[in-house]
Amino acid sequence: MNNNLVLDESIEVRRPLHEVFSYVSEFSRIEEWDPSVATAVKLTPGAPRVGTRFRVDLRAGLALDYEIIAIEEDAGLLMTVDSRLLSAREEILFEEARGGTRVRYIAEFDFPAPLAAFNRLFPGVMDRVGKSAVAGLKEALEDDFEAPRASSLLAAADRLVFPGIWRFTKLGYRSSRRHWKAVSAYQRERHAVITGATSGIGEAVARRLAELGARLTLVVRSEEKARALIDELRAGTGNDRISYEIADLSLMADVHALCDRLLEAGAPIDMLINNAGALVNPRQQTSEGLELSFALLLLSPCILTERLHPLLAKAASPRVVNVLSGGMYTQKIDVDDLQTRNGEYSGSVAYAKAKRGLMILTEEWAARWEDDGIVVNAMHPGWVDTPGVEDALPGFYKLTKRLLRTPGQGADTAVWLATSSEAAKVSGEFWLDRDRHPSHLSDRTKETAEERRQLLKTLAELVDSTASPVPVPATRAAR
Ligand SMILES: NC(=O)c1ccc[n+]([C@@H]2O[C@H](COP(=O)([O-])OP(=O)(O)OC[C@H]3O[C@@H](n4cnc5c(N)ncnc54)[C@H](OP(=O)(O)O)[C@@H]3O)[C@@H](O)[C@H]2O)c1
Repeated sequence: MNNNLVLDESIEVRRPLHEVFSYVSEFSRIEEWDPSVATAVKLTPGAPRVGTRFRVDLRAGLALDYEIIAIEEDAGLLMTVDSRLLSAREEILFEEARGGTRVRYIAEFDFPAPLAAFNRLFPGVMDRVGKSAVAGLKEALEDDFEAPRASSLLAAADRLVFPGIWRFTKLGYRSSRRHWKAVSAYQRERHAVITGATSGIGEAVARRLAELGARLTLVVRSEEKARALIDELRAGTGNDRISYEIADLSLMADVHALCDRLLEAGAPIDMLINNAGALVNPRQQTSEGLELSFALLLLSPCILTERLHPLLAKAASPRVVNVLSGGMYTQKIDVDDLQTRNGEYSGSVAYAKAKRGLMILTEEWAARWEDDGIVVNAMHPGWVDTPGVEDALPGFYKLTKRLLRTPGQGADTAVWLATSSEAAKVSGEFWLDRDRHPSHLSDRTKETAEERRQLLKTLAELVDSTASPVPVPATRAAR
């Protein structure tokens, strides 16, 4: 004997209809708002349409297969649900209501006999599950979460080697994600500039932002890689507002030329993700006579961010995200030898010092641009399985491979800092897995006020002295 149960719940939220529809119709995001869901993934590439399938894994252990069977933009979504225990039809209807949007969620479950008996014995269980799901959706769409606070417990754990390092692995990511809030902020009107988008973490940031519908400018040094990636992102996400700009970011002439082109195009930048990077051994000097780690990891993002300030200031909720590394915890900035001209060179040390320098810039920019509304933060992606790590640290890679995060896991905090309303409330901080962490673990790595002043002065002089005097040809204009 079969048995039916119908849930019919409505909520109203102060969000425009198209934003609400966009968030809910990407149904895999149910994992952010329904407390009974452990994970959800979209199985069909492209924008949601008839035939798009999702797999939703419930915390209770049941897997549900969803398929969209009807969809009308800004109006409604009809899905079938199949699983080994039950089947259902879920309809979600959207309409404008009192300056916001009303969402009506109707689920019609068809239980086979054993579950029907359960439902008769505990009639309130399914009802409560439905109510808590729509309450979660309301909270997600209201998007009114408090600013994340620093945790003294986390800071103390960071100072102990094992708890600190354990967090860098995929286990740290899994443990942290349990307390994350939904991110429903609308991204389709926002523009991201991402450096190092052709591999690893940068590529994962680009993929996620493309899924969220943002307009992307990928900064790359290989045109071939850029074209292949853009084709893949367009096919996978349905987002065709993705272009690229070519620049070797270890060459300051290229960085300045890139800035000139972006400034000339004039599009506001809502998200600037300074991600490109590499750990190099032995010491290398660029054709411009700069030490490579310093040039790529510190001076290049410094020039890019300083010069793009006017485009950031034009955006509605601008963010700068600097991709740093836990390696910076080991080093203090050496203002007298920023390019390791003296003594023995170690790629890891030069890398960590450059990241330390970019942390100092993160704090400076956050303070300097507070009145412009520009939020600047830095993050550590954790230890991530990327070509960069495999190439630069083969021994470490072999040893830790099974504990490394996926690029998507490593990219998560950068995307969250760039997109969430919650993260817009804090500036000038260092983050891992959406948690604030101290920028120093010991006084030994802290620069004095005079050293900080000297660093800023040296960098400012280099921003000016490396500026290209020659106007940039129009052939590389934004596509
Ligand atoms: N993976 C980790 O565990 C880890 C940990 C801490 C911090 N990070 C940081 O995360 C960021 C991304 O690293 P990843 O692990 O994703 O490395 P990756 O896979 O090697 O990717 C690095 C990206 O930077 C680009 N890039 C390198 N040199 C460049 C240059 N001179 N000009 C323009 N683009 C350049 C690369 O372009 P090509 O594709 O052309 O090579 C690539 O797109 C880096 O800043 C790194 O320091 C990574």
